[in-house]
Amino acid sequence: MTGNSAERWGSVQIGLHWLIAGLLVVQLLAGWLMTDASPGPFQNFLYTLHKNVGLIVLILAVIRLGWRWANPVPELPVDLPPWQATAARVTHGLLYVLLFALPVTGFLYTALGGFPVPFLLIWDLEKLVSVDKPLSQWFKLAHLSLLWLLYLVLALHIAGALQHHLVRKDWVLRRMLSSRAPLTPHPAGR
Ligand code: HEM
Ligand code: HEM
Repeated sequence: MTGNSAERWGSVQIGLHWLIAGLLVVQLLAGWLMTDASPGPFQNFLYTLHKNVGLIVLILAVIRLGWRWANPVPELPVDLPPWQATAARVTHGLLYVLLFALPVTGFLYTALGGFPVPFLLIWDLEKLVSVDKPLSQWFKLAHLSLLWLLYLVLALHIAGALQHHLVRKDWVLRRMLSSRAPLTPHPAGR
């Protein structure tokens, strides 16, 4: 099934979840490597990769939220303690905020600083804003600070998913891995 139901994620949301997760790994690796690399063609390649993958993550996040809005959102297990349900919702909300805020701050830092943003090597997106170096430094600070929030929230998110799978032994991780695998016990607790 491509769309979500009240009980499970459809293949589109599952595909987007893991595609974005994979791109984030590429993004973090490129970010760490490019700031340590010596100036030269390899460093330029990493910067271009980082800027492009970041903007692609932003576009995929918009598509993902649009699809989520147009589809039912599967319920959490009925026997989940309320504080864990709240923690899951807050963590997911923050992840969505960060999927927007990181690319936007990265873009504004780069473009306001007068550096190139060659999206898909076709569009020079830095031309959308005029250079403002002091403002650019604020967005640099925001970009690098939000990263720490991402590390924290991602660690909580992954720990939560593993807790569901290994400790509670429910179907929450399984339903994010497949839109068809049987889910036991039944999602509605019946
Ligand atoms: C999901 C989106 C993004 C993530 C997760 C991300 C992550 C990172 C990471 C891990 C670093 C290295 C930080 C360090 O250790 O020094 C970094 C730096 C940087 N990012 Fe991003 N980034 C994202 C999007 C973008 C975008 C869209 C742009 C520009 C169009 C961008 C521009 C930069 C620049 C120029 C730096 C270098 C900062 C410096 O000079 O230290 N980022 N980012
Ligand atoms: C690395 C980047 C990741 C990002 C940005 C991310 C983001 C998200 C977001 C925003 C949701 C909420 C979905 C919604 O309500 O629309 C979600 C759900 C989920 N994520 Fe991740 N995730 C990532 C990695 C992971 C990893 C590594 C795991 C497993 C270890 C995981 C397991 C899950 C599970 C099981 C759900 C479904 C929760 C449910 O069914 O209610 N995620 N993820």
